Amino acid sequence: MAVSTITPPRTDDWWRSAVVYQVYVRSFADSDGDGVGDLAGIRERLPYLRDLGVDALWLTPFYTSPMVDGGYDVADYRDVDPMFGTLADFDAMITDAHALGLRIIVDLVPNHTSSAHRWFVDALAAGPGSPERARYHFADGRGEHGDRPPNDWESIFGGPAWTRIADGQWYLHLFDPAQPDLNWRHPEVRAEFEDVLRFWLDRGVDGFRVDVAHGMIKAEGLPDVGFGTATTGQRQVDLLGRARLPYFDQDEVHEIYRAWRPILDSYPGGRMAVAEAWAETPQRLARYIGPDELHQAFSFDFLDATWSADSFRKVIDTALAEATVVGAPTTWVLSNHDKQRHVTRYGDGAEGLRRARAASLLMLALPGSAYLYQGEELGLPEVLDLPDELRQDPAFLRTGESRDGCRVPIPWSGELAPYGFGPAGSELSWLPAPATWRALSVAAQAGTPDSTLELYRAALRIRHEHPALAVDAGEVTWLPAEPGVLAFSRTAGTTALTCVVNLSGAPVAIDGYGEPIVASAPLTDHLLPIDASAWLERR
Ligand code: GLC
Ligand code: MG
Repeated sequence: MAVSTITPPRTDDWWRSAVVYQVYVRSFADSDGDGVGDLAGIRERLPYLRDLGVDALWLTPFYTSPMVDGGYDVADYRDVDPMFGTLADFDAMITDAHALGLRIIVDLVPNHTSSAHRWFVDALAAGPGSPERARYHFADGRGEHGDRPPNDWESIFGGPAWTRIADGQWYLHLFDPAQPDLNWRHPEVRAEFEDVLRFWLDRGVDGFRVDVAHGMIKAEGLPDVGFGTATTGQRQVDLLGRARLPYFDQDEVHEIYRAWRPILDSYPGGRMAVAEAWAETPQRLARYIGPDELHQAFSFDFLDATWSADSFRKVIDTALAEATVVGAPTTWVLSNHDKQRHVTRYGDGAEGLRRARAASLLMLALPGSAYLYQGEELGLPEVLDLPDELRQDPAFLRTGESRDGCRVPIPWSGELAPYGFGPAGSELSWLPAPATWRALSVAAQAGTPDSTLELYRAALRIRHEHPALAVDAGEVTWLPAEPGVLAFSRTAGTTALTCVVNLSGAPVAIDGYGEPIVASAPLTDHLLPIDASAWLERR
């Protein structure tokens, strides 16, 4: 196969097959030595991402924020937090990214603002019944003295979704109290976000990742769920994705996206939006996607699949069937800033890493786009032993569960933590990297043949160049395989690429499938070891 330099997709529907690299801005690269990643740090490292072979970056929120929820509490949607830089830094970063053929997707957080947002500050000052309060969900409490919350809704981060303020009213926050929910039935809220979209589109962004895209509309009258931790002991959030809650996935939310789509379409170059949406069924999730709504929605079922051939086969088949119905390819994801890293989910240690490498190769062979989370190309595990006093996830205080372990700054080089995260000599990082990460740094893995980094580089190069993996190439055809083994091929003309994943307990012969071109573990005698994947070619 000819090896050429990678040409990024230039068409308007570049997102259909794109590999998007999620940058958790706080933890990617720190240019000024304050221990926190920033936009200038991303800019410096763009060549690394180009060489890795990704098509686009998704940046988590870098807007002005008190950082109660890592920036998902936005105080000003049109500015950069000083911790991350300035708008000029953003402009310089996106200009360089585009020059390198990398597209930029930014995070949009429309469900809630920060409690430090001007609108919320004004709402608190203005008092009950005021127009300022109408932009949020303020309500009187229940009971004779109004000292019980207006309804039984629970915060995703634990506890009631309502907080009472000094004048006796309550306000709704599906996440932290510092993240009040906006009232999306209010025309000013809709107008504001349409304007925010234009603000970033005018600055050249290629797309948006829409945070809590299923949450903006609440059922009329804010009805009780009817059960919850207090009554049944079952947290409402545990039903997320299995039942329709009055605060999620309401039909009217689609009106919002039908208003956004013409805005995106009015800009040249294929501006897109991907939903972080949770819905009861794949069919309801599919309703977020289409020519008049959003372009993509993450397929979290793939991330949730357990390490078994049946489990993967089932979620892949379901997702592919849905993709056919909506006419948009699936959006695969194995890790992100909210979930335990997949190395650790699959067993941690050597076993977890083996499986993670195999799963990544599986994901990258599937049709559709793939979202990578920073550090997965290094095989980083979840950091499980962070001292509690260093944890910053607001969910930790309320539930004891913390997402900090997947947010530790990534290692770039050197012998001492934080391993080149900051400028030379800088010892600061907002979360400490474990000593074992010295061997996992970019510098330690670059050029090392069997490293995870080189595996990703090879897979991404082949994915770009191989006709059978192109966006218009063949769909997935499952091939006969031994129990516990997945094998499928995709074809273009007379060329076929087969991906074999060994989830059985024994090595499996793969010589019948073609010539191996990349594998997640060394192949001996045409045997694919356990917990490994290979791509094989037939021309
Ligand atoms: C999304 C984000 C998560 C954040 C939450 C509230 O789920 O991915 O990090 O805490 O929304 O904005
Ligand atoms: Mg910094």
